[in-house]
Amino acid sequence: MPTPPDTSKTLKLERYNSYLRKFHSTKLINASSKLLFRATLLVALLLILFFTISYPPLSDNPHHRLHRHSLLSTSLFSVGGGAAWEKQVRRSSTPRRPNGFSVLVTGAAGFVGSHCSLALKKRGDGVLGLDNFNDYYDPSLKRARQNLLKKHEVFIVEGDLNDAPLLSKLFYVAPFTHVLHLAAQAGVRYAMQNPQSYIRSNIAGFVNLLEIAKATNPQPAIVWASSSSVYGLNSENPFSEIDRTDKPASLYAATKKAGEEIAHTYNHIYGLSLTGLRFFTVYGPWGRPDMAYFFFTRDILQGKSIEIYKTHDQKEVARDFTYIDDVVKGCLGALDTAEKSTGSGGKKKGPAQLRVYNLGNTSPVPVGRLVSILEGLLNTKAKKHVITMPRNGDVPFTHANVTLAHKDFGYKPTTDLASGLRKFVKWYVGYYGIQPRTKKETQPTGDESG
Ligand SMILES: NC(=O)c1ccc[n+]([C@@H]2O[C@H](COP(=O)([O-])OP(=O)(O)OC[C@H]3O[C@@H](n4cnc5c(N)ncnc54)[C@H](O)[C@@H]3O)[C@@H](O)[C@H]2O)c1
Repeated sequence: MPTPPDTSKTLKLERYNSYLRKFHSTKLINASSKLLFRATLLVALLLILFFTISYPPLSDNPHHRLHRHSLLSTSLFSVGGGAAWEKQVRRSSTPRRPNGFSVLVTGAAGFVGSHCSLALKKRGDGVLGLDNFNDYYDPSLKRARQNLLKKHEVFIVEGDLNDAPLLSKLFYVAPFTHVLHLAAQAGVRYAMQNPQSYIRSNIAGFVNLLEIAKATNPQPAIVWASSSSVYGLNSENPFSEIDRTDKPASLYAATKKAGEEIAHTYNHIYGLSLTGLRFFTVYGPWGRPDMAYFFFTRDILQGKSIEIYKTHDQKEVARDFTYIDDVVKGCLGALDTAEKSTGSGGKKKGPAQLRVYNLGNTSPVPVGRLVSILEGLLNTKAKKHVITMPRNGDVPFTHANVTLAHKDFGYKPTTDLASGLRKFVKWYVGYYGIQPRTKKETQPTGDESG
């Protein structure tokens, strides 16, 4: 009878093998968990390193929490300049007087922007400029204004209103209390040549600025330039802020009108404090070469003929000419009386201030009178060519009522056209190095007394 096989040895062997298997698999699990742990640690370290390099610490600027969307969509590290650039931005925007403002001035290399930047800096506010130095008119004039501002320690960042990452970075680096928004595509007739530039700067650019401002914490108060052109074909005179503005006569006017409606929306939804200023034909030293008083001066000096417009019913065109110093006082008055925005982190916390004011001179002057003042100052007879105004051109008559601005921040224009033009001509001949043909080009002439 066969003897049953001795299984005790096999069983022992199997137990030993199973022990070995368990031992190896535990070792394997331990080894792979260690590997996994190390890999996770490495990835975490790499991520920390990436974020540290890409984004400066938020604690640098406790008042300003950046728009998360722009933080994530673009590395702010690569926007703007390096550490030296940031230092310039900070230095320029830091106020030097107690409770001074920190103001972002857009369009700072422009006519009104450069004057306002200087005035703010001189009274101790911090000012940072932004301008894209476009060539709508001679950019060398913008560069010369930039040099002037540089002497007064105002730094202008070269960039566009539509550059969201750049704007985010500026708001991150500098704690702006206010924005004086003057950058725009100006001019009435150029809109027929380049309509898109008006949409890009005056509508898309404005919205971009408001988007960044509304997301900043705390939000700045914003004062911005609208225009008397919003009154368009309205025949009420003088123009008051409560008058209708729904008949713009140019694309420029339509974009400024759109700006006023957009301002209303951002005030209503996000609690941004917004003040729109309707300027009436601003003139003065460092002015705009596309404006009549400027190119009349140039053409009269060069012996070229100038075109003087009459309306269709052969009436003289008249405008409220506002001297730059008066406009600067109005802009600073609007900034000084601007209440704080009420929103926080893109959310409205309560009703915020929304204002619109005329900044004009309250006494329209016929263009013929402007020319005769210039003739007197330049001691040269103009070659006048009278033509009928094109129907699709500018409005023939502007006259400001400034009651509201006067009541709210004491705005009162004090410079008459003759005195203002005298200062302009003095600057013009100096800037362009022209030998004046005048007896004394800065002295009043008989023509200027009125
Ligand atoms: N000067 C006037 O008589 C007058 C009248 C009514 C309204 N305004 C308004 O006042 C403001 C200032 O006018 P100004 O006479 O000083 O004009 P300006 O052309 O001299 O200044 C505007 C500045 O903005 C800059 N700019 C334009 N688009 C830009 C953009 N997308 N991004 C960055 N910078 C940009 C330009 O380079 C320019 O330097 C403008 O909004 C204008 O529409 C002026």
